[in-house]
Amino acid sequence: MINKKINIAVIGLGQVGNYLLNELNTKKKDIELKTGKKIEIVAISAKNKNKKRRFKINKSIFFKNPIDIIENKKINILFEVIGHSDGISKKIVETALKNKIHVITPNKALIAKHGDYLSKLAEKNKVNLEFEASVAGGIPILRTIKEGLATNKLIRVYGILNGTCNYILSEMEKTKDSFKSVLKKAQSLGYAEPENPKLDLNGYDAFAKIRILSSLAFNKKISKKNCLMEGIENLEYKDIEIASQLNFRIKLLGITELINGKLFERVHPSLVKKDSYIGNVNGVMNAVIVEGKPIGESVLQGEGAGPGATSSALMSDLLSILRGNIKYPFGIPDIKRKKSLSYNEKVSSNSLYLRLEVKDKPGVLSEITKLLANNKISIERVIQIPDHKKKSASIIIITHRALEYRSQNLINSLKRNKNIIKKPVQIRLF
Ligand SMILES: NC(=O)c1ccc[n+]([C@@H]2O[C@H](COP(=O)([O-])OP(=O)(O)OC[C@H]3O[C@@H](n4cnc5c(N)ncnc54)[C@H](OP(=O)(O)O)[C@@H]3O)[C@@H](O)[C@H]2O)c1
Repeated sequence: MINKKINIAVIGLGQVGNYLLNELNTKKKDIELKTGKKIEIVAISAKNKNKKRRFKINKSIFFKNPIDIIENKKINILFEVIGHSDGISKKIVETALKNKIHVITPNKALIAKHGDYLSKLAEKNKVNLEFEASVAGGIPILRTIKEGLATNKLIRVYGILNGTCNYILSEMEKTKDSFKSVLKKAQSLGYAEPENPKLDLNGYDAFAKIRILSSLAFNKKISKKNCLMEGIENLEYKDIEIASQLNFRIKLLGITELINGKLFERVHPSLVKKDSYIGNVNGVMNAVIVEGKPIGESVLQGEGAGPGATSSALMSDLLSILRGNIKYPFGIPDIKRKKSLSYNEKVSSNSLYLRLEVKDKPGVLSEITKLLANNKISIERVIQIPDHKKKSASIIIITHRALEYRSQNLINSLKRNKNIIKKPVQIRLF
């Protein structure tokens, strides 16, 4: 970037966009000191010009239609901070890149869905498409993989990638409250979306981040395969309590790894040891663990969401561009990024935690152990907790490693058993 004054547009002035705008306005001197470039915000856009916002906006540069900005203003760098996976978000990013405007976005939904196409477009037009803030908020994990660990051969990246879920699980353990009431609390504190928290809770949000991490870590196209994705919506306090007694915590983990050169991506609740690193990442915190050669294991932890942390990552993308770091959005040229082969998840294996609510009568436990044996799943530990009043019992089983397809067959046969009175609970051990 040769010109010294850099014109900036910010599209989307919600939680993140509005905070970012304030950072840009208040840190101009710092940016100039560190990059030698003067920035000027010449255009902003949101849905509603007159909405009351945390930080005041300059209405004289407000555009109702963000596409008009590209047509009417000379923009060097555009922030897309709306958040849709398609529609206006895709249109604005696409139009900006075609017009040789650098784009910075925290929009994981857009990158997970259209990242390949958009990065190719950026490459073709010799501009940057930066999306550090799309994974794990303020944790600089993408730049770490792209630059800090550039020559390592990575084999696995995993972690806690959704602060909302981690907060809910930690808070349930701390307060012994139900999922529903902790979710309400999370919403009132701004940790969960007030209208529709579903995409956080069902694992979709973590999954979009896993897809982005996979393609960067393994230099592949973004995978399109539907993978193992389970959220935390059906977890009960009872399982958190039992897990705790067994020295485990329940965490929603996102995991991507290469097994014999094949990609295995998954997001699901996992039982992790209480004394493990990941077992002690609590509240809204995120953590990402990268394993590779020769680095071994590298851990990054920090705030995974919130306007401050997200803006920090957006600003780092800005400074990277201003310093002239024009590079491939996914680290290597698009043409070198191949499709990944998919690992057959049915032959993956995990130890399982099973909780079965059963009729308290003779012979039930032996029926259950028979079903496990039929599916070639061996038991490591069994605990039975009777409830004499209800004439029922909870049977908790920890299995040895079992193949996924056998575990699923087992669950199906347990569901059909008339002595099991509630849907079996199954959580994988990590
Ligand atoms: N919130 C976080 O902690 C967090 C963390 C990491 C990443 N992110 C990502 O950051 C992005 C923004 O999230 P957010 O929480 O800031 O969302 P948000 O509060 O819902 O803000 C969205 C903004 O987009 C504007 N908008 C909607 N439709 C528009 C249109 N057609 N044209 C122009 N503007 C439009 C809205 O305008 P009005 O304000 O006028 O309604 C609003 O300002 C998303 O991609 C999200 O995944 C957020």
